[in-house]
Amino acid sequence: MLDRPRRLRRTAGLRALIREVTLSPSHFIHPIFVHEQETQEPIATMPGVSRHSVAGAVEQARMARDLGITSVILFGIPDEKDPQGSQAYAEGGVIQRAAAAIKAALPEVTVITDTCLCEYTDHGHCGPLCQTADGDWTVDNDAALELLAQTAVSQARAGADVVAPSAMMDGQVGAIRAALDAAGYEHVPVMAYAVKYASAYYGPFRDAAGSAPSVGNRASYQMDPAGGEREALREARLDAEQGADYLMVKPALAYLDMIRLLRDSFDLPLVAYNVSGEYALVKAAVQAGYMDERRTVLETLTGMRRAGADAIITYHALDAARWLREG
Ligand code: PBG
Ligand code: ZN
Repeated sequence: MLDRPRRLRRTAGLRALIREVTLSPSHFIHPIFVHEQETQEPIATMPGVSRHSVAGAVEQARMARDLGITSVILFGIPDEKDPQGSQAYAEGGVIQRAAAAIKAALPEVTVITDTCLCEYTDHGHCGPLCQTADGDWTVDNDAALELLAQTAVSQARAGADVVAPSAMMDGQVGAIRAALDAAGYEHVPVMAYAVKYASAYYGPFRDAAGSAPSVGNRASYQMDPAGGEREALREARLDAEQGADYLMVKPALAYLDMIRLLRDSFDLPLVAYNVSGEYALVKAAVQAGYMDERRTVLETLTGMRRAGADAIITYHALDAARWLREG
């Protein structure tokens, strides 16, 4: 028989020889939730993930580094929330303190800070609210830009190597780029959450950060899951034109087509966010005994790389790095 593809799969060595997709700890970004308590609080909806103190966040970054994961992304959870999210850009804010502490202890670790207001506002939206002509409450886009720019500058001042705006406000990448440049942080890249959907898969994260919107939802700023390629290309193009250094697609699993689309349409590095709900699905199935965790996780992450992601933000990062080490 002429065509016997199985010839190339007979042994592990033959399979390894022609593997096209690589997965290594250097591709992972380890997410860390930092709160202002001294305790470590497990997050019920994300088994294996906790909120950490500033000192605990440094230990998390060290564990990642020791496993070959060189980047972390920080999410701050302040004690005090208010309508303007002022702890997001406060000088001694929790994410600023965590970034500074990690850089002081582990200068070689790349510290990425999530730049948004929803963890810091008492209403849980990604910017300050205003009333429309019809009397509805919505996020004030241009007021948010001002605060997001301040947040990014304060994060850079604290030592963040990369800022990652996730609020889905129009013009946020340009506003942040201009503010960073004006403050002397021309060298700090912007990792743009460019194609970010209004997704049910953020449920566990909002539990972790206490950031579920108290009124309404995020559908007027995050993207419609049923929107198509044109909308995704437009969002990515706008961020690229405003100076984004990386593009991100979020969530990842239900949007692998968008990862592939952006990979083929732009020459910027591409990041996939394997979000909290994707993590929780795997954990629940594993705890129920329905799936093998190691195989499921490594297959999932490989799929994101195959779709075209350069880097992956994933709550499985530490486990996956350990499994890859074991070989
Ligand atoms: C902040 C932000 C969110 C996530 C990352 N940055 C929450 C949201 O948009 O509601 C979600 C990450 C996850 O689910 O793991 N805007
Ligand atoms: Zn937000």
